[in-house]
Amino acid sequence: MRVVVSVGGSVLAPDLAHERVEQYADVIDRLVDEGCSVGAVVGGGGVARSYIKTARKLGANEVELDDIGISVTRLNAQLLIAALGDDAAPSPAENYEEAGEAMRRGDVAIMGGVTAGQTTDAVSAALAEYTNADLLVYATSVPGVYSADPKTDEDAERYERITPAELVDVIADIEMSAGSSAPVDLLAAKLIERSRVRTIVLDGTEPEDVLDAVLRGEHDGTDIVPNGSEAGMDYWVADEDE
Ligand code: UTP
Repeated sequence: MRVVVSVGGSVLAPDLAHERVEQYADVIDRLVDEGCSVGAVVGGGGVARSYIKTARKLGANEVELDDIGISVTRLNAQLLIAALGDDAAPSPAENYEEAGEAMRRGDVAIMGGVTAGQTTDAVSAALAEYTNADLLVYATSVPGVYSADPKTDEDAERYERITPAELVDVIADIEMSAGSSAPVDLLAAKLIERSRVRTIVLDGTEPEDVLDAVLRGEHDGTDIVPNGSEAGMDYWVADEDE
């Protein structure tokens, strides 16, 4: 099976500790051992935000700030590449074609950002669409998709399962309130809706949770399942039958 894993920068390297990066590399290695073809997209986290804040004070325009953000996502991607060693393509893919080619070769493709005006949430969804992935997993600092921003609204409820169209509506509502943190951004939600890729949003603090989600469909986050698709995936059902 082909899987794209999106790892938020604050999840991969919250304080640049090497242990978390190693744990993510181990999870990716396990997925490869289990026969998965893996693409991973890495975000910029707090380091990107710090750089962007400083550059904004220095007068950089928004596109320049995005380019700085992209550079940091690629730096984080290089940490994951360092931890993966020979299993990964040697540098972050700079576009979907490169990433797809690496995956076809049997390498793990690692990407950061691609172009100004978006985030790695959208890159992950686009890579999943481009490579026709069976599954897209967002390992984020928000443990699923909620009816409102759980950080500011104590009545916010986590959805166990929603459709991509519902995801678009929920994210559009959350993004309307300034300063709120949506689990994925609106462009990513739209790409998920367009491609109908099966998606999971989960808390990425424990990298092993990504393994259970990909290999068995077990997780405490949110399943995004297009109408007309089965709740489970073929290979999860096959596992249960064994
Ligand atoms: P992230 O994807 O980490 O964005 O990219 P974020 O919203 O800060 O992530 P989390 O989910 O809260 O951790 C960091 C920055 O890099 C630029 C954007 O400025 C983004 O905010 N970027 C990233 C792009 O301009 N294009 C890309 O394709 C990716």
